[in-house]
Amino acid sequence: MNPNYKKLFEPFTFRSGVTLKNRVLMAPMTNFSSNEDGSVSDAELAYYQERAGGVSAVVTACVYVTKDGKGFPGEFGADDDSLIPSLTRLASAIKEKGAKAILQIFHGGRMSPPDQLPDGQTISASAVAAERPDAQVPREMTEDDITRVITAFGDATRRAIEAGFDGVEIHGANTYLIQQFFSPHSNRRTDKWGGTLEKRLNFPTAVVEEVFKNVKAHTTEPFIVGYRFSPEEGENPGITFEDTLALVDKLATYPLDYLHVSVQNFWGGSIRDKDDTTSRVVRIQEHIGDQIPVIGVGSLHTPDDVVKAMQTGVPLIALGRELIIEPKWVEKVQEGKEDTIATTLSKQDQEKLVVPTPLWQAIINTPGWFPVKD
Ligand SMILES: Cc1cc2nc3c(=O)[nH]c(=O)nc-3n(C[C@H](O)[C@H](O)[C@H](O)COP(=O)(O)O)c2cc1C
Repeated sequence: MNPNYKKLFEPFTFRSGVTLKNRVLMAPMTNFSSNEDGSVSDAELAYYQERAGGVSAVVTACVYVTKDGKGFPGEFGADDDSLIPSLTRLASAIKEKGAKAILQIFHGGRMSPPDQLPDGQTISASAVAAERPDAQVPREMTEDDITRVITAFGDATRRAIEAGFDGVEIHGANTYLIQQFFSPHSNRRTDKWGGTLEKRLNFPTAVVEEVFKNVKAHTTEPFIVGYRFSPEEGENPGITFEDTLALVDKLATYPLDYLHVSVQNFWGGSIRDKDDTTSRVVRIQEHIGDQIPVIGVGSLHTPDDVVKAMQTGVPLIALGRELIIEPKWVEKVQEGKEDTIATTLSKQDQEKLVVPTPLWQAIINTPGWFPVKD
């Protein structure tokens, strides 16, 4: 191995006690390929197994915690005990190859496609539609809805434990329900769940507390709990970077194992203030210091890119598209074969790369998302 890359292969122990064998994780990526009943498909299992041999942990595609939170066609579920065997197959498939398995738990809120929901109606903090063409106006959640969904995040955590997962990642990013409660755009409530910044934090922290309650009740083994968030929203009103620092400070009061900053580009600056070009991830790392480990992500293609990102002090790195294009990214670096890491894919590569058809179709038909050559 090139000695410059040794840092990527240092083990890392979380405060919960779980040790990762190296610093590179697989980022959560939805694959649209689960069965209609919410169970994981064989094609998905093969896709994860192909990628779980080198990384220290796989964060799964997001999984819905209630049926009214399903966010994608072909998304899998953790909303019912009948799905525990499916979750067990997924956890086992990942762990068999040597990676820790982390289930990303999620509710889509107003971003769910209505045709994926039992009654065709989205729900959210307030009845405010997302700023995108043809967005449905969500139904404002009642107090009962709020309690039900918070409880569901806890129940999904219990199912993850029973299925043998090593942890859960709370999906508080990418404009979905947890973020919608934190956002002044989607949350216009005047009760305890909205209004001031402090009150907009109440739903995210209630979810965190419910998850920890279930971890405590259902396992004595070390179990990872991480939280993913997006640093800003472009809308007005919308989440500012100052809001996010307040979120980070609040999250730091819980025994979370990591914070995962969801961005497309690790080095990207503010989306609200174009003059502020400092990396959001680095700013968060500087702010939080060693209180909670940060996972950085976003367009880090080569091992040199990852080393440079880690030199900022960020201890852990997740790779997303890179691992779809090159399932053996980590193994190749470890074996000194980094020159053979693929950085583009061709339309003929589906079988070779072991990618389920619905995800493959999305990859090759969405311009600019992946570097596709003919
Ligand atoms: C196909 C695909 C599906 C994704 N699905 C999710 C998801 O389910 N949950 C999530 O938090 N982020 C999701 N993301 C975002 C990635 O986790 C990651 O933050 C993003 O791709 C940037 O990292 P990269 O440049 O290494 O791909 C997805 C990205 C891709 C490419």
